[in-house]
Amino acid sequence: MGKRDFHGKIRARLTAAAKRAMKNAHAPYSKFKVGAALLTTSDKIFLGCNVENASYGMTNCAERTAIFTAVAQLGSKMEIRAIAVANNQNAPCSPCGACRQVIYEFGPKAVVFFRSKSGKDTELPITDLLPEGFRLK
Ligand code: THU
Repeated sequence: MGKRDFHGKIRARLTAAAKRAMKNAHAPYSKFKVGAALLTTSDKIFLGCNVENASYGMTNCAERTAIFTAVAQLGSKMEIRAIAVANNQNAPCSPCGACRQVIYEFGPKAVVFFRSKSGKDTELPITDLLPEGFRLK
């Protein structure tokens, strides 16, 4: 299988998984259900959804739910290879600023699959979405 096909397969697989995870979202306030699926460099997939709260600021985005789940299972050396995001309105939805920083922490070389502002399915390296991401060193 060529590199391009392999990449396309990862994208299709992660996007389908993100759509499944989206159904579990707890989003009674915004009604905007989001799902995320990430692939680790060790070839494991983890899912997340947004979890809102009556105290709005406590909301956890789908991306961070998936990342924290992966860390809980695999430990802090877990590395993200790719992460896909989907929502129940087929709306443009790139990861928020906070999630970009968290993706960068665990996947400085990660590729992000999302629908862009123009409505196009897009993939970008996290370093394009978050130039100069913070690292404590
Ligand atoms: N949300 C995500 O889960 N991921 C994103 O990339 C964008 C926003 C959630 C947070 C909140 O529950 C809802 O979408 C509306 O902002």
